[in-house]
Amino acid sequence: MVLFLALIISFLSLQAVRSAGNIACADSGLDWYTNAVGETPCQTYEQLRQICNPKFAVGVMNSSLPPDVCDDPESSCCCNSVAFGLSMLCLNCQKGTEPTGVSVDATPGTYGKYLGGIKTNGSCTPVVNQTLPTNVQTSICDTRLKILDPLYARLYWSDGSWFYGYSSNLLISNISATDGNDFTRCASTTINVTFSAALPSSSTVFPSSLPSTSASSNASVISIYQSLSRRDSRHCRRCYTSNYRSGTSTVVFVSEVEDKSG
Ligand SMILES: *[C@@H]1O[C@H](CO)[C@@H](O)[C@H](O)[C@H]1NC(C)=O
Ligand SMILES: *[C@@H]1O[C@H](CO)[C@@H](O)[C@H](O)[C@H]1NC(C)=O
Ligand SMILES: *[C@@H]1O[C@H](CO)[C@@H](O)[C@H](O)[C@H]1NC(C)=O
Ligand SMILES: *[C@@H]1O[C@H](CO)[C@@H](O)[C@H](O)[C@H]1NC(C)=O
Ligand SMILES: *[C@@H]1O[C@H](CO)[C@@H](O)[C@H](O)[C@H]1NC(C)=O
Ligand SMILES: *[C@@H]1O[C@H](CO)[C@@H](O)[C@H](O)[C@H]1NC(C)=O
Repeated sequence: MVLFLALIISFLSLQAVRSAGNIACADSGLDWYTNAVGETPCQTYEQLRQICNPKFAVGVMNSSLPPDVCDDPESSCCCNSVAFGLSMLCLNCQKGTEPTGVSVDATPGTYGKYLGGIKTNGSCTPVVNQTLPTNVQTSICDTRLKILDPLYARLYWSDGSWFYGYSSNLLISNISATDGNDFTRCASTTINVTFSAALPSSSTVFPSSLPSTSASSNASVISIYQSLSRRDSRHCRRCYTSNYRSGTSTVVFVSEVEDKSG
């Protein structure tokens, strides 16, 4: 009982420090994100910034862009293109993209204004693009914060613009192509598959079962091609690619599945 109370108290005091801001989406337009990550992009954005500033809470994103500004005294969590991309996704979540809203893009120069921190004291520094500082990345992995892989390298425009249609299409296809194993910057969020035998170097390898994701719950494996050296998916009728981690090596499988639902 005492332990239980202590847990409640520590939970409450944690809540007192880490307040939640405007994290809800206006409509179902960003459901693809929330379903894949388990939280809205505004929550991901808020938690990323809370690593540097525990008091940070997402406000109402500014439709006169930039949606937000990087103005934390310790700015390494927001002084980067990953945080800017998340702030744009959060704006689209708060405003809604469909069926009630219309998606918002950013014109060239918007990223620069985000970094400029126009609310308070000028520019954040140092700026990092298409990656995150090591200490921030370590905290992300320690707290199992899930940031989709393409948000690092692929969703970045050097003129400071940003496009919802392009970004959402890329993320949705990546989530589906990786069967949800799309958070591989951290071992803590990479889906592991236990192999029954050690990995041979050339022969075909079968994982003991398909990972239990919603996408594969109606599917049974009929054949699996190890595609480290050979990506022979030509004979697959319904194939998908998955990245699995086994010990220190990452293995890519092309799997052929058959639908059990008939
Ligand atoms: C919203 O953005 C505009 C244009 O950058 C800026 O003038 C305005 O102060 C911002 N509003 C808020 C509440 O930050
Ligand atoms: C603005 O910059 C000054 C001088 O560098 C510093 O003393 C002050 O704390 C800063 N204000 C904020 C809100 O960061
Ligand atoms: C998913 O995105 C990551 C990061 O951009 C990329 O490395 C990977 O190849 C993509 N996977 C697929 C199947 O599109
Ligand atoms: C990051 O991107 C911004 C906007 O395109 C650019 O101004 C800045 O020079 C870039 N910084 C680095 C370190 O690449
Ligand atoms: C995957 O395996 C690695 C290495 O053993 C481990 O550190 C990590 O926590 C595992 N990830 C998950 C999600 O279980
Ligand atoms: C699995 O099949 C059942 C019956 O056809 C269907 O109702 C259900 O939505 C399917 N689940 C998935 C995840 O596709």
